[in-house]
Amino acid sequence: MTSSMKEGAGDSVVYEKAGGIAIVRLNRPEVRNALSFGLISRLAEILHELDADESIGASVLTGGEKFFSAGADIKEMAGRSMASFEKHDDFSVWDALASVGKPFISAVEGYAYGGGCELAMASDMIVAAEDARFGQPEIDLGIMPGAGGTQRLTRAAGKYRSMRYILTGEPFSAAEAERMGIVTAVVPKGQAVREASRIAALISAKPRTAVLLAKKAVRRAAENQLTEGLLFERSLFYSLFATLDQKEGMNAFLNKRKPEFKGE
Ligand code: HXC
Repeated sequence: MTSSMKEGAGDSVVYEKAGGIAIVRLNRPEVRNALSFGLISRLAEILHELDADESIGASVLTGGEKFFSAGADIKEMAGRSMASFEKHDDFSVWDALASVGKPFISAVEGYAYGGGCELAMASDMIVAAEDARFGQPEIDLGIMPGAGGTQRLTRAAGKYRSMRYILTGEPFSAAEAERMGIVTAVVPKGQAVREASRIAALISAKPRTAVLLAKKAVRRAAENQLTEGLLFERSLFYSLFATLDQKEGMNAFLNKRKPEFKGE
């Protein structure tokens, strides 16, 4: 079994290849794997490189042993305006994940919050440790999910439970995620990467073209006409950067204080 870890100082995503699969790891532990635009672009670039690599049949995406990701990078977004988001359409970097051909499986240990939960839901399967926590806490920052949370959670869980988690920001357990249909399997703590790797290796041993086309067909069933909803969500997300509550919510988080929202 050959293994190569590509890691350089400051690399926000690292990966390792072994036995027909790649293990791709988010690598910004100092900010709990906050998803900067650069990190998402690099992740998409790596997954596309792996698409072109004949030695690889499927990948596992992990944040490491303690957390998957605390979501989009609040520091990077805090001072942004609606106009600058509309002009640069920064969140379009997420679109490149949708065109990844080979299956990739998220292995979630610890929390997957905000954009972290959305990233896991944008992958093809989610294997969660039993103590994993999911959540869409954006509401507490004066914003809303912007990378598919309102669309993918609602499609999987239905309106009634999706409303609860998106409007209250309350986290939910791996067991609840499994009940809502966003989790493929729940495994003992510390075993998520191992189980996701087992599934990825099974897939990697299958005929590659059949896998690619079968993945495409399942996505069509699950995500047919999703694009319209994603664009709608992104546009509303950008518009919240014209509110005082967004500035207050994010500044309060960065200054470690309780926000005082005015509804404006
Ligand atoms: C930037 C973050 C961050 C984030 C944590 N940090 N989350 N920085 N963006 N999303 C930073 C903290 O500021 C802190 O920096 C350091 O990481 C450690 O964080 P702690 O809070 O001390 O860690 P911990 O006690 O382990 O708590 C972890 C946590 C908490 C429960 C996840 O950090 C948290 O609530 N984070 C925010 C979660 C969130 O609101 N996510 C949604 C983001 S918006 P210092 O400098 O103090 O060491 C979003 C929008 C999606 O995702 C839109 C589409 C992508």
